Amino acid sequence: MNNIDKIKAAVKNSEADALMITSEANRLYAAGFHSTAGVVVVTAEKAWYFTDSRYVEAAEKEIQGAEVLIVDREETYSKRINKIFNDDDIKVLGVEDERLTYSEFTEWSAKLTAKLLPSQKLLIDLRAVKSRDDLGNMIKAQRISEKSFEEILPLISAGITEKELAAELMCRFYKNGADDKSFDPIVVSGTRSSMPHGVPTDTLIQKGFLTIDFGVKLGGWCSDTTRTLCVGKPDDEMIRIYETVLNAQLAGIAEAKAGVKGCQIDGAARRVIENAGYGNYFGHGFGHSLGLEIHEAPNASPSNDGEIPEGAVISAEPGIYIPNRYGVRIEDVIYITQDGCENITTLSKKLLIV
Ligand code: GLY
Ligand code: MN
Repeated sequence: MNNIDKIKAAVKNSEADALMITSEANRLYAAGFHSTAGVVVVTAEKAWYFTDSRYVEAAEKEIQGAEVLIVDREETYSKRINKIFNDDDIKVLGVEDERLTYSEFTEWSAKLTAKLLPSQKLLIDLRAVKSRDDLGNMIKAQRISEKSFEEILPLISAGITEKELAAELMCRFYKNGADDKSFDPIVVSGTRSSMPHGVPTDTLIQKGFLTIDFGVKLGGWCSDTTRTLCVGKPDDEMIRIYETVLNAQLAGIAEAKAGVKGCQIDGAARRVIENAGYGNYFGHGFGHSLGLEIHEAPNASPSNDGEIPEGAVISAEPGIYIPNRYGVRIEDVIYITQDGCENITTLSKKLLIV
């Protein structure tokens, strides 16, 4: 079943007569076509993709399962969409309440003839479940980022700044076939490794832990990986912290399975870190879903008591961060199955000393 068909089935089971999809990521999910401007409308039986002259030719060639209609200054989005509402008797329109700005919501409410109904959850639930094809694309993205990471390892001991290392990594993303990065790489070394989302600076890579968090986009699909290395010899506490984070990650991965709550997966990892005495130094959740965006729902976090569905792709990324000293994070990506999960990350997790 393609995504338009999945959305049609979800609309059929909802209180809305149609769903209007306005956000870039969800339009890409629905139609498999990327544009910076467009609107998708889906009923239980039909689908339309409205866009302007910049995209219409490509949209007509690439989009399957939705009729492509052009908008312009005369035939505006609302005019075109209202005509469909009239023809197909659409009175209640599901909208992306979590993506529309207040002014967009106000404007659509004023211009469209249908009553707007918050319906984001419908898309969130569909996107939480990745097909095997989706997974195949995410694995390809993952492999490109892993190859790129391995290629920059020889540069680390040569005396290079955090920013330069990030640039070398991004350059290899594109050379190895990626379309884009999935987020700005995090490269933090020495005492700066205690900042989970620190930004690379012009300082030379320092002795101590070096955390590199990176990912690419391929065909819209994201990858996400973190590895922490040690520059120079680690002391006993550094080794203990690294092993604790790794054991926490393995405990979370062992807990991960369809139907298990997000907070249970997080809890399994968190207990390992708490038992080792570092509970105060793990401030974020165990993992987030990813797919067409780097951060998606559902999360494997303390606040998510919802069950993780079969087919979810989530990160497994516990960490310990001791301010002004150092930090460690290890991140893999896992695919949730009926019986457990498949780890799609292949990079070694043995502490690499450079
Ligand atoms: N790896 C980046 C993030 O999860 O925010
Ligand atoms: Mn992540």
